[in-house]
Amino acid sequence: MLKFYEKLDEVIRENEKNYYKILAFIVDEIGYISDETVKYIAEKLKIFDFTLEGIIEYYPKLSRARKMDYVEICIGKNCGVSMPQRKIEELEEKTGMKIVERVCLGRCGKQKVVKINGEIKNYDLEDELEKILLKSKKIRS
Ligand code: FES
Repeated sequence: MLKFYEKLDEVIRENEKNYYKILAFIVDEIGYISDETVKYIAEKLKIFDFTLEGIIEYYPKLSRARKMDYVEICIGKNCGVSMPQRKIEELEEKTGMKIVERVCLGRCGKQKVVKINGEIKNYDLEDELEKILLKSKKIRS
C-alpha cells in the first residue's frame, strides 16, 4: 500500500487541478475508492471531502468504485494468512467485494485480522471469513 500512496502523491502533484484524473488513477490502480483515500486526497489538496464526493457522484466510473465494498485481508506474520489468487477471486465473486492482501493491518492479536470498508474485524477460520464478508456488505443504492 505504501507504493500506492507514493504513486498517488506523484499523481496528486502532477494533477493538482484535475481531481477527476486523481480519482480515476485510484480506480485504475486498486478498483475502489475508500473513505481513507478521499480524506487523504482532500488533506493533500487542502480541499473539503465533499468537493471530491461531488466529482465522484458525477462520473459513473468513479461512483461505481466508491460504492464498491472493499476488503483488506491481513497476510502479516501474526495473521499468517495468504490465500491463493483463485480463492480470492472465488470470494470476490461470491461476495461482490474487491479483496486485496495487506501486510499487517496494525491490529496484531490472537485472531486473524480483516478490514472491511475501513472497519477491523477478527476471525479464526477461513470459513468464518466468507460469512463475515457477506454480513458486512454495504447496502447502497
Ligand atoms: S499481522 Fe495481521 S494485523 Fe498485524
